Amino acid sequence: MGDFSNLVMLRLDRALGGPSNGYLSMSASRLRFYERSPGHQHLSDSDRYLLKRPMPSKRVVIIGTGTVGQEHMYVAHLLGKMVVHGIYDTEPDSMDAAERRYRSFSEQTLVRYKSLEEACNDPEADALIICTPNHTHFEVLNIAMESGKPILLEKPLATTLSDAAAIVEASETYSSFIQVGLQYRYKAQYVEALHEVKMRLSLGDIKTISMSEYRPPFLDKVKQWNKFNEQSGGTLVEKCCHYFDLINIISESTPVRVYASGGQSVNFLDFKHKGLAADIDDHAFVIVDYKNGLRANFSLNMFCHDFTEEMVIVGDKGSLRSIERVSADNDDSPEAIVAIELGDPIGSRRIEASYPCEIRNSGHQGATFFEHVAFFDQLTGKQVQSATPLQGLWAMIVAAAAQNSILTRQVVDISSFMSDNNLSKYLE
Ligand SMILES: NC(=O)c1ccc[n+]([C@@H]2O[C@H](COP(=O)([O-])OP(=O)(O)OC[C@H]3O[C@@H](n4cnc5c(N)ncnc54)[C@H](O)[C@@H]3O)[C@@H](O)[C@H]2O)c1
Repeated sequence: MGDFSNLVMLRLDRALGGPSNGYLSMSASRLRFYERSPGHQHLSDSDRYLLKRPMPSKRVVIIGTGTVGQEHMYVAHLLGKMVVHGIYDTEPDSMDAAERRYRSFSEQTLVRYKSLEEACNDPEADALIICTPNHTHFEVLNIAMESGKPILLEKPLATTLSDAAAIVEASETYSSFIQVGLQYRYKAQYVEALHEVKMRLSLGDIKTISMSEYRPPFLDKVKQWNKFNEQSGGTLVEKCCHYFDLINIISESTPVRVYASGGQSVNFLDFKHKGLAADIDDHAFVIVDYKNGLRANFSLNMFCHDFTEEMVIVGDKGSLRSIERVSADNDDSPEAIVAIELGDPIGSRRIEASYPCEIRNSGHQGATFFEHVAFFDQLTGKQVQSATPLQGLWAMIVAAAAQNSILTRQVVDISSFMSDNNLSKYLE
């Protein structure tokens, strides 16, 4: 399933822009978050020292300028290392909205491309960020790869395992790199959890992982692609690939068995788009057994008012519990707590895991910001822990097996499932 042991060797803090890459070091960049404060906009660049703006050295093109495309545009601006050079979307309304929003925080001119090919092959641009709906990833990526440019592809890799496997194969011989948008590994509480499990090793051998997400329904999307299994890949692929990616990383093993139960109980029961009834699940329980004996479970409920995400990791020496709560009313700041219990006062602690509010509010509690730090680092030849296409495929394998289990009401044996989907080579 890919070598996760390199996570132990690679320093997570470097991926988070610690002093070793200079992003937050005082000598390289001072008082970053005052640089845009309204009272300091009269300062010319020559008068800026503490408030010096970073000089972007890379240019990116955003393909698909809906909710997440716009998040990437804002985050690129906030980080300041990459400038958004141009945008492309099949819907002029999405391009107009993205451009309007961009104007509210940047004076940069944006190129508006007329076709996907033009957007992918602009010689002025260094990299591409693909944020189109799931069912378009495969086709858009194939055209994007003809450019030979580095690509950040939003999750999930694709809507079918065969397309996802074809992407992994193509990425293996690609002249550049493809980073997958599984950025939850950069949420503050999971960075802390990964550090505790893989660097401090305080929990010992991990035996069980329990994750859950309680949240409101899927939001509106352009042409409502996320209400349909065919266009989204199904709820567990579309949304929960993030959690299966995290569980896979922590397990450092290969899933052998998946059992799931779930369905559509409350959401979109009377929803139709172009005559088609919504068919996505709104709740599920998933159990995964791993080859090394680790057991994991994941619970999803999508008819809650607020967002709560929880992870409990238990090893033979201790446990870690993280909880993130985000109010849907936006009247609370999001908070994530990590509690580590080692049965000994030494090392046991309860901490708040969070980023500076400007980063935290820039998208996905700051995870997208650090995904951009990693993307920029990869662009400049550094090694990072961002998601690879192979990790994207494994997250999809667990998700797709769980969806298959919901349909068949049977335990899915991963070896047979892989064989049925021509994926056996990934088990070797
Ligand atoms: N990483 C994350 O945490 C995260 C969060 C939300 C969404 N996503 C992913 O981001 C992608 C986009 O989601 P969204 O919420 O922005 O959806 P959205 O519907 O808001 O935006 C998608 C945009 O893509 C455009 N589009 C459709 N087909 C296109 C094509 N062939 N070429 C160019 N543009 C095209 C649409 O017109 C729309 O403007 C999805 O793959 C989704 O799963 C990732």
